[in-house]
Amino acid sequence: MTSLIERAAAHDVEIQAIGRPDLDLSDPDSIERCLDAARADVVVNAAAYTAVDKAESEEELVTQINGAGAGLVAAAARRQGAPVIHISTDYVFDGTFDRPYDETDPPAPVGAYGRSKLAGEFAVAAANPEHVILRTAWVYSPFGGNFVKTMLRLGETRGQLNVVADQRGGPTSALDIADAVIAVAKGLIDRPGRFGIFHMTGAGEASWAEFAAAIFAEAEAHGRKPVEVVPITTAQYPTPARRPANSRLNGAKLRETYGVELPHWRASLKSCVARLLASPTT
Ligand SMILES: NC(=O)c1ccc[n+]([C@@H]2O[C@H](COP(=O)([O-])OP(=O)(O)OC[C@H]3O[C@@H](n4cnc5c(N)ncnc54)[C@H](OP(=O)(O)O)[C@@H]3O)[C@@H](O)[C@H]2O)c1
Repeated sequence: MTSLIERAAAHDVEIQAIGRPDLDLSDPDSIERCLDAARADVVVNAAAYTAVDKAESEEELVTQINGAGAGLVAAAARRQGAPVIHISTDYVFDGTFDRPYDETDPPAPVGAYGRSKLAGEFAVAAANPEHVILRTAWVYSPFGGNFVKTMLRLGETRGQLNVVADQRGGPTSALDIADAVIAVAKGLIDRPGRFGIFHMTGAGEASWAEFAAAIFAEAEAHGRKPVEVVPITTAQYPTPARRPANSRLNGAKLRETYGVELPHWRASLKSCVARLLASPTT
């Protein structure tokens, strides 16, 4: 949301940001009240219950927010004749394929969060035929909590870090996602009809260990002390929720349909780290 607000200003697009406490995705009345009062050309839902591990013990709540709640947002957009852009995730897949996932590949979530996000995709599609579902993965930005900020913080006090090396994905800048969402929204207004599911991640791929090493290399270029990344396996770093080993998503459909392609993750990481080190409070 913060990235979208920042990039909207650069694209001269007007954004009405709605969220808690006014609109709570677990409260259907608040969704109707807020969205029926809003008048938008396109409705974007970037909100979700995202605590992947906690979701394992709160499946009812996460399903209500990410499933039913997402459907109600799409239905509200439908009532005002607007298309909905909905953000989804690589977690709808189990990650067992040995190539980047296509939109036509069968979803098979392995945890509560992934199941809830898949329920959301179905609910959005059922509630509003004019939907664009953008699945992304491994998101970071200068804002909020994320992997890049965690690595930079840990690197301040540690000379060595163990990082998982047997999961692969496309690190994705939220600022690049925001640019893509705005481009798709404009595309929907200019030439309606290109609905469906699309994959969208930073170009290229990495393991978490390679991603971490790149973060520390960028930080070192800005005068930070070196941090050694020790590659470990997923089994050596157990978490309550299972993660897909392969989170790579094929972005060809988005490129061919909307002409939208995200920059290489290393280029976007470079500017994110530079920005964070110049102004660590953002
Ligand atoms: N992070 C990733 O790596 C990743 C990967 C793939 C897909 N995604 C998807 O990208 C989208 C944004 O994720 P993110 O990483 O930016 O998440 P985030 O930083 O956790 O932000 C989630 C946002 O959703 C809001 N939210 C949570 N519960 C809500 C509720 N019940 N009602 C209304 N708003 C609620 C939060 O509001 P508050 O500020 O009030 O808490 C926050 O603004 C989500 O759809 C997520 O599934 C993320």
